[in-house]
Amino acid sequence: MRNQTTTFTSIFEQEVYEGLTAHPKYLSSKYFYDEVGDKLFQDIMAMPEYYLTDCEFNILEANKTEIVDLFVDHGEPFSLFELGAGDGKKTKILLRHLVERNIQFDYRPIDISQNALNELENALFKEIPEVDINPLQGTYFDTLRDIGESNGRRKVILFLGSNIGNLLHLQAVEFLKNMKDAINPDDLIFMGFDQKKNPQTILDAYNDQAGITEAFNKNILTRINREMGADFNLDNFLHWEVYDPQSGTAKSYLVSKVEQVAYIESLDLEVPFKRWETIHTEISQKYDDTIVTWLAEEAGLEIATSFSDKEENYKDYVFTK
Ligand code: AVI
Repeated sequence: MRNQTTTFTSIFEQEVYEGLTAHPKYLSSKYFYDEVGDKLFQDIMAMPEYYLTDCEFNILEANKTEIVDLFVDHGEPFSLFELGAGDGKKTKILLRHLVERNIQFDYRPIDISQNALNELENALFKEIPEVDINPLQGTYFDTLRDIGESNGRRKVILFLGSNIGNLLHLQAVEFLKNMKDAINPDDLIFMGFDQKKNPQTILDAYNDQAGITEAFNKNILTRINREMGADFNLDNFLHWEVYDPQSGTAKSYLVSKVEQVAYIESLDLEVPFKRWETIHTEISQKYDDTIVTWLAEEAGLEIATSFSDKEENYKDYVFTK
């Protein structure tokens, strides 16, 4: 069995080692996303149970004029950054509207996946060729530094899809502080936060009947099998979702149905599981105005306004500093 002084060939290897030798075991949801994981997440966004995407799509569609008015500020040209741009389905509503109104801007989508950025660039070239697009590949934390150092144009930063919900509150505050440091007083941050609601609706969104979320959750083991020569048997694990309506935290687990030992070749590591032992893989935090106000205050940001659907299932907040 590998001893702890051995060096790792990637952060992924190191984090898998740390998570699977910890008690209780955990893995980071950022490792869901390879080409297969990206596709599974697109399938999730198209599922009827995963209300988040439609909710935010409808909020942007219904309020695009007012939102773009906020972005424009005296008609000055500006840069529209988007963290975790993905396929840009929702952003295209705003891009089209900006183009229709002849507003001067450039669009700077940022994503960890070069593949996702290439597809987005090709799609925009076909669908809205007027958009001046400058993609940036990297993690949120790296690219926030680049945003801070970018040209003198006004900045609007989009962070849609309640992606912030995959961070614990303290990490979210740290992240918001980094965003604050990357902007000037005239700039804006436009950010989606999924809201607390009927707990059953939330559980259903993360536990669909077709098993797409289960495949997404298990994709982390598939990646370890392929990329690290491991032998996890996916059928020996259950996808399990819990939601705590008090804290607003939804958590995903993989639960070992049997006593078993998996072996990870590149780490020379045996991973023993007791029957019903868990690997915690993801949090998807749900919010209300009180929590978002607290996060903003902790980070030194102000909430300028917000946009929501009628039932307040989902909200996009506009922050300034
Ligand atoms: C990307 N992120 C905001 C999604 C969420 O809702 O936490 C990922 C996801 N996990 C399961 N379904 C969707």
